[in-house]
Amino acid sequence: MTRPVPTVLPPDLYGKHVHDPTTRVLDRIATAKVTLSTLINRGRLPSGVNDHRFPVVVTDRVLVAADADVVSLRLESPSGRSLPRWQPGAHIDLELPSGRIRQYSLCGDPADRGAYRIAVRRIPDGGGGSIEVHDELAVGTELMVRGPRNAFLFAPPGRGSTARRLHFVAGGIGITPILAMARAADRLGVPWTMVYCGRTLDTIPFLDEIAEFGDRVTVRTDADHGIPTAADLLAGVDGDTAVYCCGPTVMTAALLSAIRDMDGVEFHSERFSPAPVVDGAPFAVRLAATGEIVEVGADETMLAAILRARPNQPYSCRQGFCGTCVVRVVAGSPDHRDTVLTDSDHAEGKTLACVSRGHGDTLVLDL
Ligand code: FES
Repeated sequence: MTRPVPTVLPPDLYGKHVHDPTTRVLDRIATAKVTLSTLINRGRLPSGVNDHRFPVVVTDRVLVAADADVVSLRLESPSGRSLPRWQPGAHIDLELPSGRIRQYSLCGDPADRGAYRIAVRRIPDGGGGSIEVHDELAVGTELMVRGPRNAFLFAPPGRGSTARRLHFVAGGIGITPILAMARAADRLGVPWTMVYCGRTLDTIPFLDEIAEFGDRVTVRTDADHGIPTAADLLAGVDGDTAVYCCGPTVMTAALLSAIRDMDGVEFHSERFSPAPVVDGAPFAVRLAATGEIVEVGADETMLAAILRARPNQPYSCRQGFCGTCVVRVVAGSPDHRDTVLTDSDHAEGKTLACVSRGHGDTLVLDL
């Protein structure tokens, strides 16, 4: 049985690419038929975690979608040294000149130790990171990166998966980790197929590279084919298949729902935007430096509320795994909802504003 993909589209559909723990929540309700990606321990992943911080320089930039809204950057070591190894699905943290930290999947060739490649869609109404990448990161710009880290592990058949074939589903800029996975599958000689979606052909990045894969890839656009159903995205998928999806929330949720009813199908996913707040109750935070009171609504994050008062408050993933938004609670009892901080971090008052909340009382933050 398949269910239609919801027709209410988020503003960043096919757009901003960040990492997502929604499947962590969905996993708790999934049936045993579905094997989810290892997002459960995101932030404490047993492998692929790398906290290296090192300089890179932009050595090339190319517009990779016809609408010019997606730029691909080639990043190399300024000294010509080899860059840390990575596997398909990995991402790096980019420290932008403004101080913003943003995460982008690596979409180049893991065998190329001389360069990383990322691709970034311009999001006019986002947090400003993508605009900064587009407008400020010219060839020759030096910046720091951290990682690579891998929270979207690729385990091809015979190397950690009992599946016999792979099926990739990519939505817009979600092609970035999927592209590296497809190339890896190609090299390994694993049978695979892909459905690649976007609003229009003009908005879909890397069409030229995708064309090299021939008819294994089905490109479909909302404009020409309508919004896809889960059945459209899973066409030809049966048992013994591992499905890897990177796209918007509605896409991953619809696929997970459909795959739950399919025997022997693994599901691994990563999505763009933060999970909606679940079981939220309103509370207030007081910013200790000024005494300002900020009300946090039931359906918004503490980070979103803080940003109204402190627009430059640092954040990155907005999903509780990068640690960028850490704040210290000096009074009140937080409801910690992250998977990154340790018990001793929590005991010191640290909490992650993008996911953690209050218990109804006022939290006083060291801000
Ligand atoms: S912004 Fe990444 S943990 Fe909060």
